[in-house]
Amino acid sequence: MLIRNATLPDGRTGIDLLVQQGRIAALGAGLFAGQSAPPGTEVIDAAGWLLSPPFVDPHFHLDSTLSFGLPRVNASGTLLEGITLWGELKPLLTEATLIERALQYCDWAVAKGLLAIRSHVDVCDERLLAVRALLEVKRRVAPYLDLQLVAFPQDGLLRAPGALNNLQRALDLGVDVVGGIPHFERSMQEGADSVKLLCELAAERGLAVDMHCDESDDPLSRHIETLALHTRRLGLQGRVTGSHLTSMHSMDNYYVSKLLPLIAEAGVHAVANPLINITLQGRHDTYPKRRGMTRVPELMAAGINVAFGHDCVMDPWYSLGSADMLEVAQMGLHVAQMTSQRQMQACFDAVTVNAARVLGLADYGLAVGCHADFVLLQARSPVEALRLRAQRLLVVRRGRVLARAPEAAATLSLPGRPAQVDWTLRR
Ligand code: FE2
Repeated sequence: MLIRNATLPDGRTGIDLLVQQGRIAALGAGLFAGQSAPPGTEVIDAAGWLLSPPFVDPHFHLDSTLSFGLPRVNASGTLLEGITLWGELKPLLTEATLIERALQYCDWAVAKGLLAIRSHVDVCDERLLAVRALLEVKRRVAPYLDLQLVAFPQDGLLRAPGALNNLQRALDLGVDVVGGIPHFERSMQEGADSVKLLCELAAERGLAVDMHCDESDDPLSRHIETLALHTRRLGLQGRVTGSHLTSMHSMDNYYVSKLLPLIAEAGVHAVANPLINITLQGRHDTYPKRRGMTRVPELMAAGINVAFGHDCVMDPWYSLGSADMLEVAQMGLHVAQMTSQRQMQACFDAVTVNAARVLGLADYGLAVGCHADFVLLQARSPVEALRLRAQRLLVVRRGRVLARAPEAAATLSLPGRPAQVDWTLRR
């Protein structure tokens, strides 16, 4: 495959990209200008549109997705009612319906250029029904989507009977990453104990860690401090992720000034989930109402790798969403007021390269030797992609086209005006 005349996220234009054996074999401005492509090569004219590495979702729940309304709707809209509702739904789940819903979501993901997902899977179930279902989904989608699974003790590792044993059984079955939920344990101390225990388990097994950490408006929820401590103590730098970290929104500024360097020193990745944080947090506030998202620009300024996750789509916690990581990034930049051009670029990175670092994806990116995985967006820059939630014209993995869409267009019937609407800014 030869892609001609693409624009890259770093602003380079007129780029040609040659794919051979599923990898990027050559990339540069006008590489094949005036030449015919090698025989048998499929040639695609990018027409100057933006060629990006694929979107990556570092935080999702594929076991609950597309279950909205089952068995009822979350009336209060809170995290805690969502957890209760999920508890009501769990006994009603079947492996077949879990698989079907997850596969449907993966179809949506591919169509939106989202080709790698880290999904938590609830292990608080003696049958490990969701674990078995998502392992099967992982096997089925492997030819077109990288799926990483996190063993997630939704009801608390120490709080729920049998959770530790079930989590270990899930890891034995092939779940990739150790999860946790320290703020949901019975006490701060038990939360801290769970963090220590889970980090030690990951170190023993040579696995990564990704915890729901401090998903709370309580400024005294400081499990991220404990997570950074054990990450460093056990030599897990670069393999540990703190997801949500919403309590940091409400923390004392002096304490945060001490905390950020400790997270950076431990090489802990931070994942914010803007759509979910802005809707679930601050529910106990009157006015002013907290936004609840973690301190994204401050984390980035401290040198911490920050990515954005979708978290939920049409489930007990969130009734919207469509696997569109541009929507996620757009909400992130609004909530964090990251509206400078440089900051918006950083928000685009948060759903592409930064998220790929969280998952530890090998050979990800637009460079010679990397996997030929990319998405062609109907935009001229990452900022324009965010502004327009750009159409995914072409989705390619390992040099194979997985999805195509026509250019988004509308025909005008206005006297003295062009027939096609033009969404771009031309000077
Ligand atoms: Fe989550």
